[in-house]
Amino acid sequence: MKEREGIIVGGGVCLLLLAWMGFFFHSSPRFAGSAVGAAFGIAGAVLMLFPLAYPVAKRIPFLHARMTKHVSMPTLLALHIYAGVLGPILAIIHTGHKYESHLGIALTAIMLLVVVSGFVLRYLLTYVGHEISDKLVLLQTARGDLDSAWGVLENAPVEMRALPRAPLVVAGLASLGLDLSSGGPAGEVMRIAESVADLEYAIRTDELFKRWFARSLKLHIVLSVILYVLLSLHIWAGIHFGLRWFS
Ligand code: HEM
Repeated sequence: MKEREGIIVGGGVCLLLLAWMGFFFHSSPRFAGSAVGAAFGIAGAVLMLFPLAYPVAKRIPFLHARMTKHVSMPTLLALHIYAGVLGPILAIIHTGHKYESHLGIALTAIMLLVVVSGFVLRYLLTYVGHEISDKLVLLQTARGDLDSAWGVLENAPVEMRALPRAPLVVAGLASLGLDLSSGGPAGEVMRIAESVADLEYAIRTDELFKRWFARSLKLHIVLSVILYVLLSLHIWAGIHFGLRWFS
């Protein structure tokens, strides 16, 4: 279920980023103010209010009880995610790729960052978490194999001499595809030790990504507050200057 959601949402995020990059090829300065452009803007802004239901239900106990009587939290989160991608797509169409005012540029940039940080939070963080657990299982097995291969080697002193005198150089060459380790128990120990080292390195890299991605919730919340402030200013400016233009 989550896989299908990931594919749909991932596709939506790619579409959003591609649509945004359309400004390299196209710009329609009058579209945002036209009837169709305004309809896209209004629909996008309304859809961007839907994601609020999730944090409201999550953080306000009184509303949590009332809202979850009718809709479950996972459903609210799904609504949060789908509306959080669809609203920005409509908003990008509304811009007609006219990025001239500071407010318009900031609003578009923050909106894209909210979506991307939400995507990282939902999918990449979970993905890296799974990767780490899978690799930890492999590492445990590889360490067990290394212990038994070492045990075999300890009982064969003649084979022990086959261990390279400069293991770092051998490992460095092996990483370039030049395998100088001998066969037999010593070669087996070297081969498994390299796999253990590779796995440990990969896990440390994944943990680094996990630490970065883990900050994405705070970033996502701060950016979404800025988004709503900028969106309110944009709507206020639209009504204020739009109505003045009519009079
Ligand atoms: C207009 C767009 C969006 C806004 C304004 C927004 C806002 C927020 C806010 C305020 C929270 C904090 C919830 C809390 O109180 O902890 C949140 C959480 C979250 N958002 Fe968004 N979001 C948007 C779009 C997205 C998108 C597109 C995704 C995914 C692709 C996403 C994924 C998430 C996830 C996974 C959480 C954390 C859920 C949890 O663990 O409780 N959001 N969002």
